[in-house]
Amino acid sequence: MPLQHEHDFLVTGSHDEMNRQHYVSRLRMHILNQIGGGMRDVYESRVKPTFEKENGRIPKNETEIHKAMMADHYGRTWSTMMVNCQDMVWDSVRPGIERAQPDLNERVRGVNARFGSLALNPDVEMPRYLDAADIHRMPGNYHAERAENDATQGALYDRGRFVYNGGAAGPFADGIPRTMAAYIKARWPDFKPKRILELGCTIGTSTVPFVDAFPDAEVHAIDVSAPSLRYGHARAETLEKPIHFHQMNAEDLDFEDGSFDLIYSCIIFHETSRKAYPKILEECQRVLSTGGMMAHTELTPVANMDDFDAFYIDWDAYYNNEPFYKTYTSLDPEEWVTGAGFEQDKFFQVSIPDLDRSSPEFFDEAVKNPTVAKGRAARVGESARWYTYGAWK
Ligand SMILES: C[S@@+](CC[C@H](N)C(=O)[O-])C[C@H]1O[C@@H](n2cnc3c(N)ncnc32)[C@H](O)[C@@H]1O
Repeated sequence: MPLQHEHDFLVTGSHDEMNRQHYVSRLRMHILNQIGGGMRDVYESRVKPTFEKENGRIPKNETEIHKAMMADHYGRTWSTMMVNCQDMVWDSVRPGIERAQPDLNERVRGVNARFGSLALNPDVEMPRYLDAADIHRMPGNYHAERAENDATQGALYDRGRFVYNGGAAGPFADGIPRTMAAYIKARWPDFKPKRILELGCTIGTSTVPFVDAFPDAEVHAIDVSAPSLRYGHARAETLEKPIHFHQMNAEDLDFEDGSFDLIYSCIIFHETSRKAYPKILEECQRVLSTGGMMAHTELTPVANMDDFDAFYIDWDAYYNNEPFYKTYTSLDPEEWVTGAGFEQDKFFQVSIPDLDRSSPEFFDEAVKNPTVAKGRAARVGESARWYTYGAWK
């Protein structure tokens, strides 16, 4: 695993704990890429022919493929390993963070806002879709608070996410937002947003690349989860990045109409709900200035995949505590974006090649000829393209 950038608040743990993290990370990549890579062969060579023999037809959708694959020993073993390894990721990170308390919370509390700011609002209620389950099996989710001024969940996300994706997103774990920001700048070079808003920033790893890409802009970032925001603010200050963090629900933003030129999000919608999704898009439409742009990087809709890939990408919905995942991937973003009041001819969608895993020529080609990739993409660790959609106002 490559090394993570160490800032003042990152908790990596002891020598042995770090070795364990490296091991878990490599193991996860092996399960995902090598063992997971065999899933389609197993389906084509064994599971599909057996299903056809028994039913006189091939599986008609991803749900039938899911059932058949989970009845096969290879599919079940892969799935069980995925679940256990997910838990091992968090278990490898937790002891060091628990030991770092209560000192960590005290140090986070002591941070002076020299570059940005932090505005918490205890009246913001946690939406049920975030409270009902520990999303991606992260113990305590983004928001659990066990002490006053708790920042534990931020620390857990910072290190845990790095171990989870094996450092594939770079030392700052920012591969996706860095790719998005570079793409926006390259495709629309005359677009110079003065005020930028990120929705669902967690600890601000996805905010910093936009500060770097648009140094003249005032950058704001919101999330509902106070522990993540506390930690994110401390992290941004130590990195000397001017970010204004707010505790807010993206369904009900406390900002004036037309007050941002660029609104973006990085992998949040699939963790919301069918009711929240249109509300958030409507808030984007309200808070965006005329001539402004919204852009969201998210899971590729399964309409762009065959049934096997749809089953494979939607695995998280069943086994990784991602209740909205499968419904979200079945939706057509264009329908929902226009439903929120954006004009159809202002809608765009594109699969952007990952900045760190493609040549400059390939990236430039994607800027000049935007296309949406077919097939599964965007599970961290596998993909080299990021599906992004949005609209101009
Ligand atoms: C997968 S994380 C996003 C990670 C972050 N953008 C990044 O790339 O590191 C989803 C985040 O969205 C936040 N979130 C989900 N629904 C939200 C809502 N309605 N309003 C504000 N934040 C929300 C969660 O608290 C969580 O921190």
